[in-house]
Amino acid sequence: MEQIATTNMSSMVKAFPKLLGSVKVDQDILNLCMKIGDEVLGGLCIIGMGGSAIAGQYVQALFNDVSTIPIITVRDSIIPSFVDKNWATISVSYSGNTEETLGAFDESVKRGCHSLIITSGGELLSRHGSLGTITIPSGYQPRAAFPIIFSAVLQIVECILGMEKTDLKKKGHILSKREQEWESSPLAPKEMAKDILESIPLFIGSRHLNPVAYRAKCQINENAKAMAFSSEIPESNHNEIESFDRNNDLPFLPMLLRSNFEEKRISQRFEIISEIYAEEGYTPLRLSMKSDSKIDEMLLMTFYLDIVSLELAILRGVDPNAVDKISRLKEELGHL
Ligand code: PA5
Repeated sequence: MEQIATTNMSSMVKAFPKLLGSVKVDQDILNLCMKIGDEVLGGLCIIGMGGSAIAGQYVQALFNDVSTIPIITVRDSIIPSFVDKNWATISVSYSGNTEETLGAFDESVKRGCHSLIITSGGELLSRHGSLGTITIPSGYQPRAAFPIIFSAVLQIVECILGMEKTDLKKKGHILSKREQEWESSPLAPKEMAKDILESIPLFIGSRHLNPVAYRAKCQINENAKAMAFSSEIPESNHNEIESFDRNNDLPFLPMLLRSNFEEKRISQRFEIISEIYAEEGYTPLRLSMKSDSKIDEMLLMTFYLDIVSLELAILRGVDPNAVDKISRLKEELGHL
């Protein structure tokens, strides 16, 4: 693989298309996953925090309407009581040292689950009880390793569920091609970053675009050190909608992540909230990507919004690499 400057967030984000499909999960592990899938499985629990959790959320959303077994994600040190020996768990921690992930992994082993690990090193690598470990390249920021982690999680889950294998290299080519088009279009990421510079973006997704909205919020928090939020349709139609009131003097910018695969009722909801929010003085921005499949749509939007978060970091004059407060919190907790 071409050398990527992992100390530079910009090169890492630009490498997104190349990194997709860069991890080839060993055939031994894939055989194991097929075996796990053949056994009666209660469900699949994907464990991880922050940048290491998001790939699981994507895969969960992607297979939500096709999987015959429950897929849950856990972003905590405890796992639900119904996760027992008939379940498979995938514990993901980029550093391998995340307290919550280590705790949940240990618990899954204790319960006799079919436990798998994805990590680049750390304590998780030396933990006992895993049936299989996928070691991914080290040196990245966890959130920049998303395409690597996604690729690993997807391959494992496709195998467990007996689904057709996605050609992620091909997806990478689609992303690279589209990136060139963005630069010279009204969708230039720099222009989008300018649009949100003076505001607090609220990314609103639906179904498979919910994790994309959440990822965008997190990328803006961590890369641009700026406030951002995310919410989901239809749920936010039952609460958040009331807060779009002209007397609430906060510069919220609703960013509507629209899908080509939206069902009519969801489209109608988006249209109605656009009207209501505009009447209250909040003009929503609409983002959609031409795409042939849900996975393409998720990856294209993610790559685009990752670049926007970087452009925003540049405009705000902050270092997109540093996550000093996350590190400080982990360190202080480590001393307690
Ligand atoms: O993006 C980040 O740096 C964080 O969200 C981390 O991913 C999170 O703290 C968990 O760490 P790790 O990914 O090493 O398990």
